[in-house]
Amino acid sequence: MRLANKVCAVTGGASGIGEACARTYAREGGKVIIVDRDPEGSARVAGEIRGAGGAAETFRANVARPDELEAMVRFALDKFGRLDVLHNNAMYSVFSKRTADIDLRGWQLTLDVSLTAYWYGIKAAITLAMLPQGSGSIVNTASTSGLFGDYLQCAYNVAKAGVINLTRVTAIEYARKGIRCNAICPGPTLTQGMKVGIEKGFSDAKYLVEGVPMGRMATPQEIANVGLFLASDESSFVTGTAIVADGGLTAHSGMRYAPGKGPDW
Ligand SMILES: NC(=O)c1ccc[n+]([C@@H]2O[C@H](COP(=O)([O-])OP(=O)(O)OC[C@H]3O[C@@H](n4cnc5c(N)ncnc54)[C@H](O)[C@@H]3O)[C@@H](O)[C@H]2O)c1
Repeated sequence: MRLANKVCAVTGGASGIGEACARTYAREGGKVIIVDRDPEGSARVAGEIRGAGGAAETFRANVARPDELEAMVRFALDKFGRLDVLHNNAMYSVFSKRTADIDLRGWQLTLDVSLTAYWYGIKAAITLAMLPQGSGSIVNTASTSGLFGDYLQCAYNVAKAGVINLTRVTAIEYARKGIRCNAICPGPTLTQGMKVGIEKGFSDAKYLVEGVPMGRMATPQEIANVGLFLASDESSFVTGTAIVADGGLTAHSGMRYAPGKGPDW
């Protein structure tokens, strides 16, 4: 059991990567708190975790509201007396608009949910739980979109790049306080959110996987496996890093030299 008795809060834990992480942390002995604005989804995941013999609680929160993130940490403290792992993972983004076509509201909402909430969750967790207890592991779901630019994803690219540097600064500032902070950069992953994006025509599975040398998307479990490593003591000397799990996507320059000299070769 790699997370035995560790208290783990996962934002966006009712679906996709967050759900896979919640299930995986619980499977490894963690006491999981599913933090999501979707109470039905949270109840479903928590019920299934309990049904499999794991420990799970739900906490309804809109991560764009700092007071609700603070309440999330207080919930962990009231229920379990500590918070060992905070996994910031919930996301909103305005998509499918060129940089100059994004409106201010969409831009601000993207940064509120996908960047400011990560910072505020970290601030609340460190101040209220991790500094007093002298330990903690923070995991942030960033993206390969935080490393490079994507067409029509300006606000998302900026938020995720911010998450990566937030991860680094948090890591160095609290490295001697027993608190680690790392990010995961998934490539395209077949989650509920991804399926909705494809249905709505924001993205196309065929095009998405064309740029991935492995020729497919990740499963949420493949990303949760990285989360488990970072959340647990197995990564005890790892801090401030952004681990890429992308089937080779970012290893490639994107340039093809001639027909047939590409991934289909
Ligand atoms: N799916 C991918 O291809 C992919 C790739 C790289 C990174 N990511 C990142 O992984 C994370 C999870 O993505 P996913 O694809 O699993 O998404 P998803 O849509 O399947 O799940 C997201 C969850 O977050 C919750 N959520 C959204 N806004 C919230 C808010 N304001 N407050 C509380 N909960 C909220 C939703 O209710 C949902 O349960 C995101 O940070 C995303 O940027 C995803």
